[in-house]
Amino acid sequence: MRFHSDNTATVCPELLEAIRNANVGLAAAYGDDEWTQRLDGAFCELFGTEVRAFVVSTGTAANALALATLSPPYGAIFAHEAAHIVHDECGAPEFFSGGARVTIVPGAHGKLTVDALRSALDATPPSVHTLQPAAVSLTQATELGTVYRPAELRGICDLVHERGMRVHMDGARFANAVAMLGCHPSELTWRAGIDVLSFGATKNGALADDFLYRRKRAGQLVSKSRYLGAQMLAYLDGDRWLAMARHANRMADWLAQAIGRLGGVRLPLPVQANEVFAIVPRTLDECWRARGARYLEWPGEGPGTDAVGEDERFIRLVTSFQTTEADVQALVGAADASPAA
Ligand SMILES: Cc1ncc(COP(=O)(O)O)c(C=O)c1O
Repeated sequence: MRFHSDNTATVCPELLEAIRNANVGLAAAYGDDEWTQRLDGAFCELFGTEVRAFVVSTGTAANALALATLSPPYGAIFAHEAAHIVHDECGAPEFFSGGARVTIVPGAHGKLTVDALRSALDATPPSVHTLQPAAVSLTQATELGTVYRPAELRGICDLVHERGMRVHMDGARFANAVAMLGCHPSELTWRAGIDVLSFGATKNGALADDFLYRRKRAGQLVSKSRYLGAQMLAYLDGDRWLAMARHANRMADWLAQAIGRLGGVRLPLPVQANEVFAIVPRTLDECWRARGARYLEWPGEGPGTDAVGEDERFIRLVTSFQTTEADVQALVGAADASPAA
């Protein structure tokens, strides 16, 4: 009953095997090894365009370095109010950009819209006194488990480009979004107008050289890079990344359907990726926790009009490639014993 985070799952066995296979003999360091050298090609094939891929060790580093590349120190980076770069990266985008400011934009279901973004951009006409609008960061799938469709992305990217700015995508759950929509990865990235994707891959040749030095300066150029390169190749091989995401999404779907049938449980957000948000009776929350279920209580009042009552809790449950039907059944079974169910 572990639904705390997709970060808690193990490395998938095929990736571990790829690391083991790469662990033979000597290999060139700092990205010159044969595995890392094959990454650009693998990502070009995946996205159907010219791609430069840079491996870094964390999503925070990928986001912060990408945004530092897109924004000058006096720039403004616009992002949804719930974005990971706003709440969970300890100011890394501001730090690595040397002072750019992340500016929040509201939006239902964790998403930015063209109208909300236009209002935010128009609110402070640029002058010598203001931060210069430089970039917009979108999260796909969003922090609230929802997914931007290609047309929504195109609308936002068109507006951003009209204003001479650029678009970053935090693709921590990019695979879940592609799996949900069943579209080609290019439709959610460069064809829609995304300039840089945090997937461990960065597109757009003009930015790539700059990124190269920013990565080194941030201590993110890993010397024994073959172990990262080998993992990433195994992740892409045979669309393993998508198969894993499809499984996680299917489990989230089942989970949502199963707990949605329990007494007093409300699901205020559409379940489109691998995250389920639920407003549950306090008694059910206590019962689940007492029986060993693990998940997060989500800060805030609940999205939109779905206010959380005094005797309720707003929670987030996350599935991964490792979640099983038995995990879902165990959670539902634990609720059967609850007075609230
Ligand atoms: C939406 C999103 N972006 C980025 C990250 C980056 O995380 P980390 O720096 O922990 O690898 C996470 C991790 O939870 C995330 O959920």
